[in-house]
Amino acid sequence: MVSEVRADVATARDRDPAARGVSTFEILSSWAGVQALLAHRAAHALLEAGVPVLPRTIAYVTRAVTGVEIHPAAEIGREFFIDHGSGVVIGETARVGSRVTLYQGVTLGGTGFQRGKRHPTLGDNVTVGSGAKLLGPIAVGDGAKIGANTVVVEDVPPGATVVGNPGHPVRVEGKRVEGPDADWIHLPDPIADAIKGLSERIAELEKRLGDLDGAEGPAAGSPEIRRRTGRSSAGG
Ligand SMILES: CC(C)(COP(=O)(O)OP(=O)(O)OC[C@H]1O[C@@H](n2cnc3c(N)ncnc32)[C@H](O)[C@@H]1OP(=O)(O)O)[C@@H](O)C(=O)NCCC(=O)NCCS
Repeated sequence: MVSEVRADVATARDRDPAARGVSTFEILSSWAGVQALLAHRAAHALLEAGVPVLPRTIAYVTRAVTGVEIHPAAEIGREFFIDHGSGVVIGETARVGSRVTLYQGVTLGGTGFQRGKRHPTLGDNVTVGSGAKLLGPIAVGDGAKIGANTVVVEDVPPGATVVGNPGHPVRVEGKRVEGPDADWIHLPDPIADAIKGLSERIAELEKRLGDLDGAEGPAAGSPEIRRRTGRSSAGG
């Protein structure tokens, strides 16, 4: 137990720049993520030992104090770290590998009312950004990074960086994803293309009409329709 506490405090110091040089007492007394993890380790051990009521009571009190809800049955690996703590929910059948980092507001949840395995399984060295939702019995491969506010409903390959809603890989092993379906950001927009075509025809007709009437240029005040460029709110 003492070695477990030492390892969890060392993990906080290693993973959180704000915890460098901070005493063990201070981390134990004010790092909500560390408190939640230690409480979970106790609740999980009691559940495994068949102790009734107490594991859920510990989880309930821990949620009230830290804002982190970890079901006592969830399996959490070594060197786990929750930065900032608040708003994290980890479901009953979730499994988390070693050296995983979660930021505030992450959900490892189910998608409905089904029973059995219904929460995600995270491999080793996975990082999940703030507010990300990982839903269903999906598998997240080793070393994957999940962007802040991403909604992940499908398996994530090892080493992938996944962003957006629905979450989709933008990098695998640090390299841009190639292929016909790779660019989810700049999707074709046939309606905008059709409106742009019509707008160009109208401008041409107005010009011809103007030439016939002796007036200049297209009708004043008709806005030019341009396709939107830049990052999409859907994932870039
Ligand atoms: C996903 C993440 C890990 C990627 O970091 P990275 O490996 O350095 O990758 P990049 O910054 O090069 O991003 C890769 C692409 O994804 C996009 N992207 C990154 N994070 C994104 C996010 N959360 N949502 C949508 N798109 C995102 C980038 O714009 C970039 O797009 P491009 O290929 O069109 O240029 C990082 O952006 C992230 O979200 N980390 C979580 C941090 C967090 O929660 N901090 C809380 C502190 S309190």
